[in-house]
Amino acid sequence: ARALRVALLGCGTVGSQVARILLDDADNLAGRAGARLDLVGVAVRSLDAERDVELPDGLLTTDADALVADADIVIELMGGIEPAKSLILRAIAHGAAVVSGNKALLALDGPELYEQADAAGVQLSYEAAVAGAIPILRPIRDSLSGDRITRVLGIVNGTTNYILDQMDSTGAQFDDALQAAQHLGYAEADPTADIEGHDAAAKAAILASLSFHTRFALEDVSCEGITSVTADDIAAAAEDGYVIKLLAIAELLTDATGAEGIGVRVHPTLLPRTHPLAAVHGAFNAVFVEAENAGELMFYGQGAGGTPTASAVLGDVVSAARRRVLGGPGRTETTTSQVPALGIDAVRTSY
Ligand code: HSE
Repeated sequence: ARALRVALLGCGTVGSQVARILLDDADNLAGRAGARLDLVGVAVRSLDAERDVELPDGLLTTDADALVADADIVIELMGGIEPAKSLILRAIAHGAAVVSGNKALLALDGPELYEQADAAGVQLSYEAAVAGAIPILRPIRDSLSGDRITRVLGIVNGTTNYILDQMDSTGAQFDDALQAAQHLGYAEADPTADIEGHDAAAKAAILASLSFHTRFALEDVSCEGITSVTADDIAAAAEDGYVIKLLAIAELLTDATGAEGIGVRVHPTLLPRTHPLAAVHGAFNAVFVEAENAGELMFYGQGAGGTPTASAVLGDVVSAARRRVLGGPGRTETTTSQVPALGIDAVRTSY
């Protein structure tokens, strides 16, 4: 198969890691994708800004329009609404597959983008937009499509989970814990989006839309952040055997007249310390799904950070490439390397 031309829009924490992996792991990715993935350019606002990763000369450009016009796969990691939205629409119009991690844009204008992508017959995927490295959107959309999801409870913001966990386990003050989360690189550029719950609300809208096959936008999500949670609240909860977590909740509810509806909200929630989500510490994320037939499922992992989030982006890129190359979801059997099986001597008995 001919090589596929990959354009990257944005070279921040996640974008720079995506570029690095596309370049460093090119052979492996080509094996999985069925074609080489040629990174043809990285669109940035300024050529001189400092970056986490050094890129080969000539790859950076400020002309995102030209890059998009000539790509098979466009990866949008610039964040914000514009120009990200126009560039994605242009990519779709050109027939490129689009991979995005832009939770704010998808929560606001997702339906319009999905419609355009469907009409053009191109793939638009966004696994990285919710809970970073955790594969959660594809399992909800595909693996659970034969079931009926009744509730989704998510710890989908690493910054606030880190803050609440530090307050709970070390008695840290809110401001100190927030500063530490910023140093670790988890917080949004403006951490208000984290602590007021807006980041989690965007992810809740995306999770609810996929789980309940209905369109939910940011305005459908009632949202309360963690700024009014005090050390005393946390201590009182602990005394009663509870922990306070900021949860994104989407659930099937029945009102007083017996009519069914979906409640989508984000707020600090009391969880019994025995609940699986209570064991999610630090900046980790987890999504707890309840479905009629599957019962309870939990998905756990790193919800923020450059390399973990890049993993989700590249999964979508390989999947889009396979569709391009093979005109379908790709081979069932994806064995492309010859790593031998080892004997019993190599097996560890403790982890
Ligand atoms: N600020 C977000 C978080 C980054 O803390 O989880 C990932 O979306």
